[in-house]
Amino acid sequence: MLIDKKFENLFANVTSRAALSSYFLIGKNDKIAADKAAVDSMRNELNKIEMDGKIVIGEGELDEAPMLYIGENIGTKNGPKLDIAVDPLEGTNFVANNQPGALSVIAVASKENLFGAPESYMSKISAKCSESNVIDLDFTVKKNIYNLAEFQNKKPENLTACILDRPRHKEIIDELKKLNVKLKLISDGDVSGALMIIDKKYSVDIFLGIGGGPEGVLAAAALDAYNCHFQGRFLFNTDKEKKRAKKMGIVDLEKKYELNEIISGDSIFCATGITSGDLVSGIKIKDDKFTSETLITHKSSGLKKIIKTEQFI
Ligand code: FBP
Repeated sequence: MLIDKKFENLFANVTSRAALSSYFLIGKNDKIAADKAAVDSMRNELNKIEMDGKIVIGEGELDEAPMLYIGENIGTKNGPKLDIAVDPLEGTNFVANNQPGALSVIAVASKENLFGAPESYMSKISAKCSESNVIDLDFTVKKNIYNLAEFQNKKPENLTACILDRPRHKEIIDELKKLNVKLKLISDGDVSGALMIIDKKYSVDIFLGIGGGPEGVLAAAALDAYNCHFQGRFLFNTDKEKKRAKKMGIVDLEKKYELNEIISGDSIFCATGITSGDLVSGIKIKDDKFTSETLITHKSSGLKKIIKTEQFI
């Protein structure tokens, strides 16, 4: 089933409004309030859309999250059946501490076409290459870098790798340094990190490392529209996580997911900037209007660009 073009603006409006709500909490050192503002707004706006939507990635399960919980029905119910993944505030630290890179993000696919990822870590890799055997989660860092360098006709030292700056990535980072690859270490926000491979202007050739599983699914939705390569493998560390994964229907806990197993068919992705970052600019307010920038993709219509809109607050 194709998603009608009219939904492009409707979902871009949802992330723009959520971004605006969070904007008012920039620099207030309150992650929870900033997240809540984005969640409330996003839920409110989603419920106005004529669709029979279901949250497949949200704020958690019903017992942990009263709003935008996994399984929540959303929308007016009289419209297309859509699966929806949301991250109303991606980069809670960025808003709390007034730092660049906070986004409000949503991915939408027709029913049963979007993977409902559990709240566990995911090992991820992405690069802009259409061929399937250039990068792979099962290759060594060295093999991935050499393959990509060959594919892009560049030397490894001219490649840039983006990775979350975490102690758990010490080995990968040390190996990248040994290979003389340029590093782009990010403190948070790996949806944006994974997406920086889509365009040369971001000067990132490969994204890798461990981050949130839900964030992996969201990034995959946009990467699908850009014909980029993405793989993800969940890391279920505790018995509780393993139990939850099984409850969600995951049989093979070690499975490596290809992009088309995470998202298939038609999809729309929107990411609006809250604070200005590498990907998009943040919210700007003038008098009674606000300007927002949204990276929007729609697989079937071929739409993939950054749109700027001005609206009344
Ligand atoms: P929040 O917006 O929920 O704070 O997530 C930010 C983030 O950096 C994600 O982009 C990333 O996937 C995850 O946290 C990494 O988790 P950790 O900080 O535990 O390494």
